[in-house]
Amino acid sequence: MGFSPFKMPIYSSKCGLIIMFLMSLCCIHPIGFSQGELRVGFYSRTCPQAESIVSSVVREATLSNPRTPALLLRMQFHDCMVEGCDGSILIDNGNAGERMATGNQGLGGFDVIDKAKAMLERVCKGVVSCSDIVALAARDAVFLRNGPFYQVPTGRRDGRVSDISHAANIPEVGDSIQLLKSKFRQKGLSDRDLVLLSAAHTIGTTACFFIETRLYNFTQGGGSDPAINPDFLPKLKAKCPFRGDINVRLPLDPVTEETFDVQILRNIRDGLAVIESDARLYDDRATKRVVDSYIGQRGSSAFGQDFAEAMVKMGNIGVKTGSQGEIRRICTAVNGVPL
Ligand code: HEM
Repeated sequence: MGFSPFKMPIYSSKCGLIIMFLMSLCCIHPIGFSQGELRVGFYSRTCPQAESIVSSVVREATLSNPRTPALLLRMQFHDCMVEGCDGSILIDNGNAGERMATGNQGLGGFDVIDKAKAMLERVCKGVVSCSDIVALAARDAVFLRNGPFYQVPTGRRDGRVSDISHAANIPEVGDSIQLLKSKFRQKGLSDRDLVLLSAAHTIGTTACFFIETRLYNFTQGGGSDPAINPDFLPKLKAKCPFRGDINVRLPLDPVTEETFDVQILRNIRDGLAVIESDARLYDDRATKRVVDSYIGQRGSSAFGQDFAEAMVKMGNIGVKTGSQGEIRRICTAVNGVPL
């Protein structure tokens, strides 16, 4: 089912950690696939502990802040959408920087990436890129929420550009389905990828800020989005009252908020999508068909692997490899900039 240019080894949640541990101990990686110039096990000689260090930092951070997996999963999307997956989102260069773009509001987890980078610099100085840490952390985040464990091709190099104006085209909640499809297509992602990747909203939360229009100003007369299930609407409104605190957060998947599963797609079918861009996936013939294809029993068992493949595909957008870019010393600044 789904995009499948290669067959990816994928592991169930139970055995994933053990396999990950054994692979990092023995430096053996299952004969992987390579995509572009990225490849699974890129650091197996130069920094064999790279993946296990990232995993342990992510795990630890999740224990102290349960929001961590959702933040890290979202971060990879926002990294890849601007300048390609090159860690540009991590650069902290003030008001003119990419991080300050409207579409990047609410991003977090930067401290987790910084911590992993600091540990990696101690063990293998100048080897592991920040952009690879983002991709690995997103994978670990999915796994920690009972999602699939998948192999992440690595070998990305970090970009040197962070510019707020380059982030103007990030997909936004209020975009029409046509615009969402076209923004994904511009990055080489299909309608199927749009649905699968939006299903990342199976975990995590949104601020009321992002659903205000949907609740109180969707139609000209100030009505709500008619796609919202009538039993669900009052619950959403109670959480996010008109002119209430826009920073209050609510789960993107109100049914199984803690678990990575296919429920988010059922929610979309049932009018229980929380943000508008998720709801719009059921308005369009092509994306509706994809949503429906994962809801049945056969589809839902393919969901984990297909999601993982879409993540790998997203992780390949505009990557810098070889002599392009650099390996940043710290993730928040490009090399050579005085701290
Ligand atoms: C289709 C276009 C997308 C739009 C318009 C969109 C929009 C949003 C918005 C508005 C939020 C709430 C942010 C906040 O309040 O902090 C959010 C959260 C989130 N998004 Fe997306 N998103 C999209 C696609 C994706 C993709 C492709 C991924 C990852 C593969 C992703 C992962 C997440 C996660 C995990 C959260 C929860 C973050 C948290 O709990 O802080 N999103 N998204």
